[in-house]
Amino acid sequence: MLILGIESSCDETAVALLRNGRQVLASKISSQIARHAPFGGVVPEIAAREHLNSIQPLFDAVMHEAGAGESRIRLSDIDAVAVTQGPGLVGALLVGVSFAKGLALANNKPLIPIDHVHAHIHGALLGLSDDVARAALPCLALVVSGGHTNLYLVETPLDFKLIAHTADDACGECLDKVGKLLGLPYPGGPWIEQQASKGNPDKIAMPRMVEKKSQMEFSYSGLKTHMAQMIMRLPQPIPESQIADMCAAFQREAFQQLIRKLEIARRRFPHVQSIVVAGGVAANQAFRSMSAGAFKIPCHFPNQAYCSDNAAMIAALGWHMLKELGPDRFMDANWDVYPRYPFENYKFNSAEAQP
Ligand code: KG4
Ligand code: ZN
Repeated sequence: MLILGIESSCDETAVALLRNGRQVLASKISSQIARHAPFGGVVPEIAAREHLNSIQPLFDAVMHEAGAGESRIRLSDIDAVAVTQGPGLVGALLVGVSFAKGLALANNKPLIPIDHVHAHIHGALLGLSDDVARAALPCLALVVSGGHTNLYLVETPLDFKLIAHTADDACGECLDKVGKLLGLPYPGGPWIEQQASKGNPDKIAMPRMVEKKSQMEFSYSGLKTHMAQMIMRLPQPIPESQIADMCAAFQREAFQQLIRKLEIARRRFPHVQSIVVAGGVAANQAFRSMSAGAFKIPCHFPNQAYCSDNAAMIAALGWHMLKELGPDRFMDANWDVYPRYPFENYKFNSAEAQP
């Protein structure tokens, strides 16, 4: 089965073509980071306009790559189009969804609306061998990005039970905001990682979130405020070596919170076979090293290519939905971008999972 994936929820336009949900035939991403960097964050109007410029050339490049290969795939060979329906910036989402609707309607193909956050989890499974990916479920899946810090219990490929989320800032958002306060470029996450690799995390004390042993909810605003107050009190400019030590200590505490919560969740759901970490922050090598060996079960991270937003993960989840629900369910393209989600009654729910 061939699925075309389309992603345009935030600041990356992406198109990908997958065979049977796991074999990536072509995957193209156009990042807008350089366009937003001068503003220190994503500007929704610029994002929508950039998606408009990029989406057709990306689609052409993906089809060219797939068509030039041995299999000589054409648009008529595709079984379905999967596209991010939400969550995301409305103007940005509309570009991908309108493009996908046009393709699907003109070629009489099913059109599958995809939840971006759930898709990140399938992006993490893409890099694993078939056997390891099959054995990974049921799992605890942590999606840790600029917009989300969500922990799911995933029993089967389409069953996402949200068991914890952040009470305030997302982890990536906190990294980006502290990066900005330290004068680092946007987005702060990778720059903080770079600075932290040169610093000593033991030189600067960090506050630990006051939490009950069973508390699963995440929180990053306290850590962010602590960093803001520390930066305000220091004489400017802060010496480079001190910035490196601050980044190392701050980053370690931000990730230790994730690991503590995962440990609580693992005790609460002892039947899970693995932990899956996904989203942009999963690209961080220090976080990967801290997680390795932290749990008694395997901990899977995505290939670097599938940490940040991409369309391979959209097609991967689309394939599971098409396989399970059948094409007829997706022939009606009469749906909108979030918040109206037409398939919410099918296994997708935000209910608390019971241990
Ligand atoms: O998943 P993503 O590309 O977009 C969203 O859906 O939000 O995640 C972007 C987030 C940003 O906060 C960025 O700073 C963070 O991922 N990020 C990182 C690294 N690379 C990206 N955070 C820490 N270390 C990195 N290497
Ligand atoms: Zn994302």
